[in-house]
Amino acid sequence: MATARQNSSSASSKAKKNKTLRIGFIGTGGIADLQLRLLAKRKDVVVTALSDVNQETLARRQSELPDTQCYSDYKAMLSREKLDAVSVCTPNILHMQATIDALRAGNHVLCEKPLSMTVAEARKMLAAAKSARKKLVIGFQYRYDPRTQYLRQAMEEGQFGNILYARVQAMRRRGIPNWGVFGRKELQGGGPLIDIGVHVLEMTHYTMGAPTPISASADMFTYLGNKPSGGIQSMWPNWDHETYTVEDLAVGRIRFDNGAVLHIESAFAAHVPDPSLMNFQLMGDKGGATWSPTVIFTDEAGHMVNKEPAWLADTAFDKVFARKMNGFVDHVLYNKPTIAPATDGLKVQAMLNALYASADKNGKEVAIKL
Ligand SMILES: NC(=O)c1ccc[n+]([C@@H]2O[C@H](COP(=O)([O-])OP(=O)(O)OC[C@H]3O[C@@H](n4cnc5c(N)ncnc54)[C@H](O)[C@@H]3O)[C@@H](O)[C@H]2O)c1
Repeated sequence: MATARQNSSSASSKAKKNKTLRIGFIGTGGIADLQLRLLAKRKDVVVTALSDVNQETLARRQSELPDTQCYSDYKAMLSREKLDAVSVCTPNILHMQATIDALRAGNHVLCEKPLSMTVAEARKMLAAAKSARKKLVIGFQYRYDPRTQYLRQAMEEGQFGNILYARVQAMRRRGIPNWGVFGRKELQGGGPLIDIGVHVLEMTHYTMGAPTPISASADMFTYLGNKPSGGIQSMWPNWDHETYTVEDLAVGRIRFDNGAVLHIESAFAAHVPDPSLMNFQLMGDKGGATWSPTVIFTDEAGHMVNKEPAWLADTAFDKVFARKMNGFVDHVLYNKPTIAPATDGLKVQAMLNALYASADKNGKEVAIKL
């Protein structure tokens, strides 16, 4: 016979089983497409509504999800649909307003990276989540990567000692997006640094234990994106060079309040060996590491030793991205803790903005005040 305790726990697991997350999308372009495909694998998620100003994109998504309501105005979606959560997948310029509107309409929000265009915007988003008492999660999928989790735990165990230096690289040899608005500074806030550099910067910063940045300096170069793509074979030819106002290559330095220093290199286009490289390296007073290959460099038993995990969960992009989507759903629906609260986006935003501000001042170091 079942005890009262067993009965109540099976009742609560039944309640959990019956929970459903109704989600709407603001922006249904490339990354929303991936998010939608991954959410479709969950029985406890219903994609209720989609919004996009681009009718063609919206029609394409609607043909894939015929039961979903579609809106060209996201505000109409927010006021008419009964949603629990919203995913914000617009160009960066809209992250703040769309997120705040969705929160105020009573939704939990997953906002794609970067959190916003500026630190002031990021603060408004965090304040809106607090006053709406809703969850706000940032789309930092690389911290869900098993390699990052392994190195983060090694950091927590003290295997690196004090981390003195980090080297961050997000480099494409010729990978200027030929869709969307990734070349338009006024809509994205910048180029490769804020678009792909942000991923490696944030996972490195997370692995370092999120020290507080105090200053940054950077130099940025534009030499290819503002010209026609020409006859060179590359990942995405024929980008819109006429509207291209972002950097091709950014190199920067960040100082932290604990004395650590981080160097970052990020490019949409650079004459480098790899077509596409995402990696970081840590150097501490007790140990160091590279993310890929995933190796810890340390001293043990009187020898210099390289340690590698014998097994890691799948690190394929879609598998890692699925963990981010599942992390959001489980956080909102079942109250599981998230490893990507939007509050973690604030220091990252401050670093990005300070790097751009320094480049605007010909590389002069700028202070970061948080
Ligand atoms: N986490 C990742 O790995 C990753 C990868 C790619 C992009 N992103 C982020 O996702 C966001 C979108 O990027 P994308 O690649 O999907 O770009 P995209 O250009 O493919 O899609 C953006 C969509 O937003 C729509 N949009 C613009 N204004 C809108 C509005 N007012 N209301 C509703 N929709 C609007 C556009 O019409 C477009 O369909 C960016 O912030 C980008 O940084 C994240």
